[in-house]
Amino acid sequence: MLSRVAVLISGGGTNLQALIDAQQQGKNPYGEIVLVIANKPNVYGLTRAEKAGIPAFTVLKNVSQEVFEEELLSLLSAYRVDMVVLAGFLSILSENFVKHYPQRMINIHPSLLPAFAGKGMYGLRVHEAALQRGVKLTGATVHFVNEIADGGEILCQRAVKVHPTDTPDSLQRRVMEEAEWVILPEVVAALCQKITEEKKNENLSTKEISW
Ligand code: GRF
Repeated sequence: MLSRVAVLISGGGTNLQALIDAQQQGKNPYGEIVLVIANKPNVYGLTRAEKAGIPAFTVLKNVSQEVFEEELLSLLSAYRVDMVVLAGFLSILSENFVKHYPQRMINIHPSLLPAFAGKGMYGLRVHEAALQRGVKLTGATVHFVNEIADGGEILCQRAVKVHPTDTPDSLQRRVMEEAEWVILPEVVAALCQKITEEKKNENLSTKEISW
């Protein structure tokens, strides 16, 4: 009765790797990653999935948004996915897509939301903006995904000190190591436990009805 997790990626997949490592270390006893989808071909995150024996697919964005999302949804449904994790996934998803996974789709953003968020704020750009603004603390946020970019309910945050000598690269690396790779597996494990318990209760209630 494990919760079935899909991870959507666009690049190196270090957050995916953190989830794979946590699972292999027994830190997510109520869930398993059953599917990885990249929106670009040949990204290293796909290699990470293959090495971990996780089914991995590429769904290209070179079609209409509607067809792109239909392809994503058909894969997610074929693998009976309970929860979707956006881990460095750089495609905008429509309200229509998101409503298939209410309180069941999460995203990791490399800042302390609501700072440095919204359209175009992803990857290194976030850290460039943080250094430009001169913040002394930044970090990462895990939040539910809704129809507003980076706008869903905040589930977990972790702060990271900015060093005077930081470059965007050094800051990104530290935010990943000290924040993203810590809080994402924690939130995924907690949400998997919640979903597993809900699935058990649903089963119990249907059993009661079926006698
Ligand atoms: C990183 O900037 C991360 O903060 C953000 O997506 C980018 C790539 O992450 N979530 P990953 O190495 O592909 O997980």
